[in-house]
Amino acid sequence: MAEKLSNRQATIGRHPGWPERLGPLRVAAGVVEVRKPKLLDATAWSRVRRRDQVHLESWEPTAPGTWDNNNAALAWPGQWSTLRALARRGMSLPFVITVDGQLAGQVTVGNVVRGSLCSAWIGYWVGTHATSGGVATAAVAMVTDHCFAAAGLHRLEATVRPENTASIRVLRKAGFREEGLFRRYLDVAGGWRDHLCFALTTEDVPNGLVAGLVQAGRAERA
Ligand code: ACO
Repeated sequence: MAEKLSNRQATIGRHPGWPERLGPLRVAAGVVEVRKPKLLDATAWSRVRRRDQVHLESWEPTAPGTWDNNNAALAWPGQWSTLRALARRGMSLPFVITVDGQLAGQVTVGNVVRGSLCSAWIGYWVGTHATSGGVATAAVAMVTDHCFAAAGLHRLEATVRPENTASIRVLRKAGFREEGLFRRYLDVAGGWRDHLCFALTTEDVPNGLVAGLVQAGRAERA
């Protein structure tokens, strides 16, 4: 009875596996950690996002309003509070990625469905100051391992435009499996875009993705 109660308490108002700090992992770009978003991230988040409009907007869901307004420091408190509310309701695991302690991007696990599905999607971005150094791959690997352990998920999906070579490379390096093509799946950059679906279930990675990266010489536990 006591065990049943504490299991229930653990899932009320607190997402299993949330909040959590993951890492550090050393990759070519620096030391990567993943942590919950903070209200104080506003300035750094906005600086990177406004600077990197061209790098980011072709791959992100279409949003009403202008890029500058949506990514101003003043826009962050609203986004942060939505992310926190979703996390507290068990629907999302939102993370900020840092490299050598500085905000470099975000990785978000969304649409968490439990019961007999136990599944969610994963999405991410990394600012141009930190790209091509293994950051996204390390962050995706850490978060996926966390989802399959503490967060109790069974399957993670990542959908990516076929033109997004860098993101497809991230998923392949991390160990995700390509499962198919979703036609006109998501409204991105102003139109309904085809997306490739990549996925993993716990059975695919009994030793975890981080272990695979370390073994392949792509990351070191810092
Ligand atoms: N063509 C081919 N390969 C490329 C290109 C390119 N134009 N650009 C980068 N790459 C390669 C890199 O060389 C690297 O591969 P390698 O290690 O074999 O050399 C790989 O792609 C990138 O791996 P990482 O360094 O781990 O990833 P990074 O930290 O650079 O982040 C990311 C990649 C997240 C795609 C970043 O470029 C980004 O934020 N892009 C814009 C937003 C975006 O596309 N987000 C993903 C949407 S899809 C989703 O969320 C499931």
